[in-house]
Amino acid sequence: MDRFLVEGGKQLKGTVKISGSKNACLPILVASLLTDEPFILHRVPNLRDVRTTLKILTALGKKTHYENGTVTITADGPLKNSLPYELVKQMRASFWVAGPLLARFKSAEIPLPGGCALGARPVDIHLKGFEKLGADCTTERGNVLLSAQELHPAKITLRFPSVGATQNLMMCAALIPGETVLENIAKEPEIDDVAEVLLKMGAHVVTDEKGRLIIEGKEKLGGVEHTVVADRIETGSYILAAAATRGDVRVEGCVPEHNSILLEYLQEAGVPLEIGMDFVHVKPYQGALKPVRIKTAPYPGFATDLQAPWMALMILAEGASEVDEDIFENRFMHAPELVRMGANIVTEKSIARVSGVKELSGAHVMASDLRGGFALLIAGLCAKGTTEIERVYHIDRGYEDPEGKLNALGAHVTRYNPDKDDF
Ligand code: UD1
Repeated sequence: MDRFLVEGGKQLKGTVKISGSKNACLPILVASLLTDEPFILHRVPNLRDVRTTLKILTALGKKTHYENGTVTITADGPLKNSLPYELVKQMRASFWVAGPLLARFKSAEIPLPGGCALGARPVDIHLKGFEKLGADCTTERGNVLLSAQELHPAKITLRFPSVGATQNLMMCAALIPGETVLENIAKEPEIDDVAEVLLKMGAHVVTDEKGRLIIEGKEKLGGVEHTVVADRIETGSYILAAAATRGDVRVEGCVPEHNSILLEYLQEAGVPLEIGMDFVHVKPYQGALKPVRIKTAPYPGFATDLQAPWMALMILAEGASEVDEDIFENRFMHAPELVRMGANIVTEKSIARVSGVKELSGAHVMASDLRGGFALLIAGLCAKGTTEIERVYHIDRGYEDPEGKLNALGAHVTRYNPDKDDF
């Protein structure tokens, strides 16, 4: 398994270009199941989760081709309506195929995704929504069985604004003729990107003045050509890496307003920023950063996916700060690893209390999830000496060429595999 060796103490300098959003790409790729017509997607990042999604589409009967950031998906004979557990267990988001398959076949059998490093992560909100649309949902032998005589539009109020459930239900509703209304939905920019694709496919999708999503589904949907929105989590991660190393970095090709709260908090902490239409320039600063308390929340609140990279910044601030993780029950796996590098962090339930330290020292650490893995990279960049990060495959799920992008900014990150490479 690949590891990273990070030589610390390098100030990041230069320009980094942001890739297309992983979390928008995955549901959009899955939306290709709603049609037999060609699907062309640009700015698709080369990520493990994207490759897994393409494998899933192939397993379901689609033909996919990926070259230079463009994915083309075409029909390749009849589609299947079930997925093997082997594929689902690699990526929870594979459950998002349930909505499109249910809409197309009136039946689907999808393995229930298990928990993950972040917690139990049930899919009850997805299933309640499918039931409202007319489906029977049962679980047998670890699989969710969905079936319906007839699906119909409905008014559905989500008990929590789940990102995945909003996307799954909007994809399903897009192929059910009539008006479906989704209330208490997620408002992440990735939802807007999925809505734009469904609109281009022929469904009518709008948000009304109450923030509800109104979907006028159609009997048949067409193909689409679309460019994926910038990845706001990758954007935030590089902004935080730049700030933590007191760097001078222009983060380009992003949508700064998708990171509004993060940018506000950074300025509050004392990081000088220039914010343009499609770039954020992080400028170097003298002195220590001020501690700032954050609490994660659904968009436009502070993104749970940026909580770990934010913590990596706060461990070097002067004084005490807090991170309140309100979305996932177990998202502090990076904290004990950061402590191994010299950070002072105490976690209690959903709160992590961080007392700033003067410096970190390189250590042998282990990534246990995607964003926590990037937090370790940030800490490694700031630490004295060399940090060795194991289980880099977590980072590869959601960051395109992280060592290439960081090294172009002057970092010294080397990927190696102890089973293959001599070091
Ligand atoms: C998506 C993102 C992930 C991000 C998360 C929250 C993708 C591929 N992943 O994940 O990066 O961290 O949004 O912004 O887009 N929940 C239930 N029942 C459900 C569904 C969710 O209880 O049926 C709970 C989850 O356990 C979690 C919370 O709701 O505690 C948020 O989950 P959700 O918004 O659904 O996250 P995902 O869509 O899985």
